[in-house]
Amino acid sequence: MNIVVLVSGSGTNLQAIIDAVRSGYINAHIALVVSDKGDAYAMERAKKDGIETLFMDPKIFKSKEDYDKAVVKYLRDKNVDMICLAGYMRVLSAYFVREYKGRIINIHPALLPSFKGVNGIKDALDYGVKVTGPTVHFVTEEVDSGPIIAQAVVEVKDDDTEDSLRERVHEEEHKIYPKAIKEFVEGKLEIKGRRVFRRHEHENKD
Ligand code: GRF
Repeated sequence: MNIVVLVSGSGTNLQAIIDAVRSGYINAHIALVVSDKGDAYAMERAKKDGIETLFMDPKIFKSKEDYDKAVVKYLRDKNVDMICLAGYMRVLSAYFVREYKGRIINIHPALLPSFKGVNGIKDALDYGVKVTGPTVHFVTEEVDSGPIIAQAVVEVKDDDTEDSLRERVHEEEHKIYPKAIKEFVEGKLEIKGRRVFRRHEHENKD
């Protein structure tokens, strides 16, 4: 199984995936890490681990679709089985999503369908919810709306700031994301409509 990870930022989730692959928890190969930001610390993490990286600069493309076409062209040689978005700040074009239908997953820092978008942690805190937490989901053409694979609950404390809450949400992200990737890699996930089910061993045989 070849995994490609798309990043834009610090890459703590990428690190959790790298660690899970290195320890053998996830039985797959990280074929490439792609970033739309040349200075993303995630790229350093990948390089440190000897993983191939690709920085694709959005400035040199006319449209989102042109950008995605260039990325997909690069991915074609990699025999990609799965794409993991890990803090990737660009919305994928319909072209990209169709190309890898059912094989792209994302981690979002709020309990979807609440608090979609780029400020999931701040929005939850400002709204005053008492619990929040990350969601791993399949990526569809509509942003933050695909079938949900896993969620974890994080309590919001009275003295939480955006940073303190983010820290605890991240801790849970680093547990549920590698687990969801492992399940996908092992062929355990089955999408039926909006719902994602776990296949049992005996159903995998054929
Ligand atoms: C995470 O909070 C994730 O839920 C969101 O972007 C953030 C990425 O953090 N999609 P990192 O770059 O993995 O540290």
